[in-house]
Amino acid sequence: MPNLFLHMLLYLTLFHTTTNFLIQALTSPSDISALKAFKASIKPSSINPWSCLASWNFTTDPCSIPRRNHFTCGLTCSPDSTRVTQITLDPAGYSGSLTPFLSQLTQLKTLDLADNYFFGPIPSSISSLSNLQILNFRSNWFTGSLPPSMANLKSIESIDISHNSLSGSLPNSIVSLSNLRRLDMSYNKLTGSMPKLPVNLLELALKGNSLSGSLQKSSFEGLNQLEVVELSENSLAGTLQGWLFLLPSLQQVDLANNSFTRVEIWKPVGGDSDLVAVNLGFNNIHGYAPVNFAAYPLLSSLSLRYNRIRGSIPLEYSQSKSLKRLYLDGNFLIGKPPAVFFGAKTSVAGSLGDNCLQGCPVSSEMCTPAQKPSSVCEQAYGGKPRS
Ligand SMILES: *[C@@H]1O[C@H](CO)[C@@H](O)[C@H](O)[C@H]1NC(C)=O
Ligand SMILES: *[C@@H]1O[C@H](CO)[C@@H](O)[C@H](O)[C@H]1NC(C)=O
Repeated sequence: MPNLFLHMLLYLTLFHTTTNFLIQALTSPSDISALKAFKASIKPSSINPWSCLASWNFTTDPCSIPRRNHFTCGLTCSPDSTRVTQITLDPAGYSGSLTPFLSQLTQLKTLDLADNYFFGPIPSSISSLSNLQILNFRSNWFTGSLPPSMANLKSIESIDISHNSLSGSLPNSIVSLSNLRRLDMSYNKLTGSMPKLPVNLLELALKGNSLSGSLQKSSFEGLNQLEVVELSENSLAGTLQGWLFLLPSLQQVDLANNSFTRVEIWKPVGGDSDLVAVNLGFNNIHGYAPVNFAAYPLLSSLSLRYNRIRGSIPLEYSQSKSLKRLYLDGNFLIGKPPAVFFGAKTSVAGSLGDNCLQGCPVSSEMCTPAQKPSSVCEQAYGGKPRS
């Protein structure tokens, strides 16, 4: 009996030690120290008891298995449970700066801190995360400029740092992010002009910044997969040249609320284009309404509202089979608008209001708001009323 007891004791001790070993020493020590530093840089008062981070107490190994029993909220580990591969925090109101020690998490693929109150600069050491694919810092309070070393994030596919307070210009080094598909830095305080963009980009969103200068062909050279361009609410200026709308995969272009003065539209080569929506509203575009928009076979939404466009409405717009929404209001268009827009069979919605048009039927929704007073129109046309 004592023998059996001793045997059992030995067995239990061994078993316990083994289990203990498994629980204590799975995750690499450098990952654990990075996680501890990460948590330590967050204000304790912003860590609510019900939040993910409150449960990171490091008494159990963050990658311990089975995950069913030892799940650490907000973390995902590699299949062999040695490395942290994902941090996806809950939007629990965490406030703090980002520790440079995050760079120790070299197997991290996803870092998602969206909708919190992280502040201060994005540490340049973040560039050591060479396996990072998804970076989501949307809706935080980050300041400072984007570290040029970000260009070392060779695996990065998606960057969303929209709705923060980043300043400075986009570093020229971003061109080397050859896996980047999606870049969203809308609603920051970015200045400067558009750098050369990485060629595999699908979606570019930089709305609501203070970008200036004109859009140069060299920035967009070779971006054959670019589908979405959202640059509204900036200070971009100059002429919008025809090449932009001919980027082969382009579907949506929003350049509203900038300071563009001219637009030049080329017919798509072979009549082939994926362009669906163009918004050039609230700029300072002079000249005639570009007839060639009507040659884009899928273009269904076109806004040129609130510019300084003159002359008559191109008949071609009314002959387009794809146009469903047409906003030309707030310009200085003259003459009689194409009757097709007011027919019972029209499928076009939008507005031709606030122009200098004649005979825009007030019964039509398209003709609201009312046309400009004739004195305004006469002045715009140098005192010579024309039609
Ligand atoms: C640490 O967290 C685990 C899991 O959330 C919990 O069971 C344990 O009681 C905590 N330990 C301490 C000391 O807070
Ligand atoms: C664009 O500017 C106009 C006029 O200032 C404003 O009414 C409109 O809300 C702006 N649109 C956006 C998306 O900022």
